[in-house]
Amino acid sequence: MAYHSSPTLSSSSDFSSKDEYTWDTPLTEYAYNEDYLGDAFDPTQSYTLVTGGLGYIGSHTVLELAKAGKNVVIVDNSSNSHPIVLERIKQLVNQHFVDVPHKIPSVTLHQFDYRDTTALCTLLNRYSLPPHGSGVRRSMITGVIHFAAYKAVSESIRLPLSYYSNNVAGLVSFLETLNNYGIKTFVFSSSATVYGTIVQRESLDTISEQYCVHQDESFIDNNERKFSEPGCKGITNPYGRTKWMCEAILSDLCISDPTWTVIALRYFNPVGADPSGLLGEDPLGLPNNLMPVVGRVLTGQLPILQVFGNDFETKDGTGVRDFIHVSDLASGHLSALEKAVKGELKTSFRTFNLGSGMGHSVLELVNTMKSVSGREIPWKYAERREGDVAVSVARPTRAERELHWKTKRTLTDSCRDTYNFLVNNPLGYRVEIDGST
Ligand code: NAD
Ligand code: WQD
Repeated sequence: MAYHSSPTLSSSSDFSSKDEYTWDTPLTEYAYNEDYLGDAFDPTQSYTLVTGGLGYIGSHTVLELAKAGKNVVIVDNSSNSHPIVLERIKQLVNQHFVDVPHKIPSVTLHQFDYRDTTALCTLLNRYSLPPHGSGVRRSMITGVIHFAAYKAVSESIRLPLSYYSNNVAGLVSFLETLNNYGIKTFVFSSSATVYGTIVQRESLDTISEQYCVHQDESFIDNNERKFSEPGCKGITNPYGRTKWMCEAILSDLCISDPTWTVIALRYFNPVGADPSGLLGEDPLGLPNNLMPVVGRVLTGQLPILQVFGNDFETKDGTGVRDFIHVSDLASGHLSALEKAVKGELKTSFRTFNLGSGMGHSVLELVNTMKSVSGREIPWKYAERREGDVAVSVARPTRAERELHWKTKRTLTDSCRDTYNFLVNNPLGYRVEIDGST
């Protein structure tokens, strides 16, 4: 992907006329692939911009948003996704609205790198209206959910600059551009990885948001007053550090300009798939995460699962995680976006754990998968994986209280839906892409 230099606006605060922009790169020179599946821009409607909306969590969230009647504008460069996902989302949205007396929301795909500021400005111009009188241009994009990022821990150790470029530098220029368009409602994909090794150091069963903060905080936990200082503690890889840095940047932005409303959602371990069997997880290349590896073993693409470590201080010696069904995660984004758009947050930057509050071990997940599929999953113990913590489980009470959201689905639901996706798509989305079906 060739990058274009950032367009320079003649004034960051004055949008009274498109003609007032001065661009380093003429807009007409730039073209990107677009795929409209629904109506093109309707000036009477509002839109949610979703970067990375074709990816695993993004696709399930786009579906949830559209089912809730929201128009979605996706920006995704397909670096880790398959364009066919858009067709699948469209199919499910159409099915959902068969018996619902509601206009079918539009879902459009704009296939470019979100760091390409020229393409982004072209898109944002299209989704904004000329001013009434001498006012400023008004964007019809009322909120952004930012999924686009690289996420493979081991790759981040090999290619830290790619990760800092896509995840951190990309975010900074993205925020600058959104700010210029007055789009200041932002939901960010963060991760439980920001807690690093705090859980072990503090001997916690579950972790609450106050253990990783971006301003000094004091709070009561287990009847004890605790003091939390900002800092990137015990994060064992560059990927994790990118998420922490992004949160810190967003927190600083909100301190400087409280008209921003930013939510950082800290996901625990997303698993599962849409129950339709049409959407699921299909990472390009070799997977690292547990569930995709289990899936490749089940479909015979990998011979055996290696269970990393059998000597953790956990119920069966294997790692314990808070596995959260991706559809629950998706509905968490809808709740967060709605609160953010209504401005109903305690602080202009707010973090939330998205997890179930329940821990399951690696072997429990393997056995549940075995029982829902009725198939053997060959596995063997292997050395602990460097940087792995024994336990990572959310305390999800803040999200329950403030977002009125909690998980509904169990580990069995996640395994059943993952298996259903695998049965329907043994080679993931690739079969249709290669045209071999
Ligand atoms: P994913 O790789 O499936 O989705 C990311 C999407 O973003 C992909 O469709 C990819 O093509 C797109 N993308 C990446 N860089 C881009 C760029 N520069 N421009 C445009 N599109 C780009 O990952 P996911 O599992 O859906 O994760 C989504 C987000 O959630 C990421 O930010 C990730 O760090 C975060 N997260 C994921 C997990 C997890 O275990 N899956 C856990 C915690 C946090
Ligand atoms: C879970 C458990 C492994 C693979 C990572 C990121 C985190 C977040 C989620 C993005 C551990 C064990 C795994 C295998 C195994 N991602 N395992 N054999 O490490 O909890 O979190 O993904 O933000 O940032 O660090 O998830 O699925 O890799 O591992 O035994 O082949 O499964 O050791 O105990 P993790 P995971």
